Amino acid sequence: MGTDQPLTLEQAAKRSKELREQLISYSHEYYVEDQPTVEDHVYDRLYQELVDIETEFPDLITSDSPTQRVGGKILEGFEKVTHDVPMYSLNDGFSKGDIYAFDERVQKLAGQQVSYCCELKIDGLAISLKYVDGDFVQGATRGDGTVGENITENLKTVKSIPLKLKKPVSIEVRGECYMPKQSFVNLNKEREEAGKDVFANPRNAAAGSLRQLDSAITAKRNLSTFLYAVADFGPMEAETQFDALEELSEIGLRTNPEKTLCKDIDEVWAYIEAYHEKREKLPYEIDGIVIKVNDFHVQDELGFTVKAPRWAIAYKFPPEEAETVIENIEWTIGRTGVVTPTAVMTPVRVAGTTVSRASLHNVDFINMKGIRLNDHVIIYKAGDIIPEVSQVLLDKRGEDSKEFEAPTHCPVCNSELVHLDEEVALRCINPKCPAQIKEGLSHFVSRNAMNIDGLGPRVLEQMFDKELVSDVADLYFLTEEQLMTLDKIKEKSAHNIYTAIAASKENSVERLIFGLGIRHVGAKAAKVLAEYFGDLRTISQADKETIVALDSIGDIIADSLVTYFENEEVHELLDEFEKAGVNLTYKGLRSEQLEDVESPFKDKTVVLTGKLEKYTREAAKEKIESLGGKVTGSVSKKTDIVVAGEEAGSKLTKAQDLGVSVWTEDQMVEALENSHF
Ligand code: IVH
Repeated sequence: MGTDQPLTLEQAAKRSKELREQLISYSHEYYVEDQPTVEDHVYDRLYQELVDIETEFPDLITSDSPTQRVGGKILEGFEKVTHDVPMYSLNDGFSKGDIYAFDERVQKLAGQQVSYCCELKIDGLAISLKYVDGDFVQGATRGDGTVGENITENLKTVKSIPLKLKKPVSIEVRGECYMPKQSFVNLNKEREEAGKDVFANPRNAAAGSLRQLDSAITAKRNLSTFLYAVADFGPMEAETQFDALEELSEIGLRTNPEKTLCKDIDEVWAYIEAYHEKREKLPYEIDGIVIKVNDFHVQDELGFTVKAPRWAIAYKFPPEEAETVIENIEWTIGRTGVVTPTAVMTPVRVAGTTVSRASLHNVDFINMKGIRLNDHVIIYKAGDIIPEVSQVLLDKRGEDSKEFEAPTHCPVCNSELVHLDEEVALRCINPKCPAQIKEGLSHFVSRNAMNIDGLGPRVLEQMFDKELVSDVADLYFLTEEQLMTLDKIKEKSAHNIYTAIAASKENSVERLIFGLGIRHVGAKAAKVLAEYFGDLRTISQADKETIVALDSIGDIIADSLVTYFENEEVHELLDEFEKAGVNLTYKGLRSEQLEDVESPFKDKTVVLTGKLEKYTREAAKEKIESLGGKVTGSVSKKTDIVVAGEEAGSKLTKAQDLGVSVWTEDQMVEALENSHF
């Protein structure tokens, strides 16, 4: 890429080493430190360069290369692993009394006042990672504590697990592998739309993802880890749990930043109460707090019982559940025609909000839980966000309990519902079903798609019902007068909507591709397609072989695209877009173009501060980013350049303190003018 001269083996070895080091460092900043310093496209470009070199010179592939994380090795089963040091479990506490009683026991046995290291109890799966001379060699599940399963291939795909430590130490560490709340929500949404079973909570989703025999599936699941213990202290210097966590972090392992040292049990209780409050806002699920005697010497004195250490306890939060009654089951049609049952319940408060609806996912789910109308049920929030029915209270079932009836016909267009292939979901397969079209319109205007403001579901619904639009292209033929015929839309909002629709015509085509709602084609795939093919017409004519050859596009997406574009009506839709003047081309930089950029901003992190005269902030940001730089809001030691306009304040001072290079606006303008492709 970029250069036409083939690399010599020596050049390739040097360049691939540089790329590997750079990529590992970016990935560490992103996945371990949660402090990304470059934009995705910068990473992607370097990654692709490394893939290209490794394809040409396979002998240069190293086991710690970031390209080795995509998985794909398919196992027949998991081997057993005997843990050298058993993986203990923890004793649980459920009340303030339990925690104070634990402290009393500890003090009595230790014969002194002790301090505690408090940590979050991450709700995932316990794992053990083995490193030899800094290399990741084995990862295992806890199993029964003595014998677990070898899941090395799957754990290699988890980006926060370093394949090589920052120091060449041999060490076995323990921690939790989990799925972040947002990833869980996205995964379930995707599965529901695809007619598959959903996971009950992030923990089950993480477990299911680690149990895959095909590690390529695990790789797609966006798992993460926090490490919290060392199995054998060989290379460690720390004498306390708190310092051990710091030491783990120094060698490159991800540890949880919320740990706190508490000098007595009152402070421990305050920590528990504080995190009970904060729990909902964390991006991952926790089910309690782990309290550990901080000093390792005291831990040794206290020792273990058969099952658990005497020096630690897990405080379990009371479950955030509530009881309510199923009043009705509604059946709604999604964008892909999947029919989803939703329970309408007597409103009840759970984990901070009032809940009155919960998805029941599909008929199998309702049958499995044995849910009937008027039943009393327990509900909870999966991933602390999504209300779910956990169980029916059978002993409260009354005379009025009634079997539900699954619809046989679409509640909206009345066509017969079907089960496709092995799907658990019922589907309406009428492409003209109004419900699907309305959902499709909502998706088309949504933020990651065409990003058209002012078109909420109600406005779209009216447009459809009044026959102003029957497909997404019709939006581009609406007049301001027509918009004013809608309820509550006066001149000003009609004008705003009209302008927003018109502005979206200029979008780079990946937004349109995503907005079309082609099955399995997410925003990321849309970007890959747009970047490679350059315009929508070319994509619509591409054959499966060409599509599937693209990085991160698999069989399922390729098949779905080909089937989609086989439809004559789709080509008519594209004609309509073209007639309306909607852009069908990719406007971003292609990776190989970025390759050729010569600019002082390339791969640099820039902060703009103070008043700029010649550019608006937005325009300067766009320009710098188009040259492969990244513009962020705050100055840190990772910032490369601070551009300080008039009246620059604290950001300038901070840059000076940190020794970051400071430019005037004129210097920036000059550098922009001197940059070229
Ligand atoms: S320490 C010997 N620390 O909770 C000590 N465990 O109920 C071993 N867990 O199996 C565990 N977060 O899977 C520890 N910060 C944390 C934890 C944690 C979650 C899990 C772990 C363990 C279970 C015990």
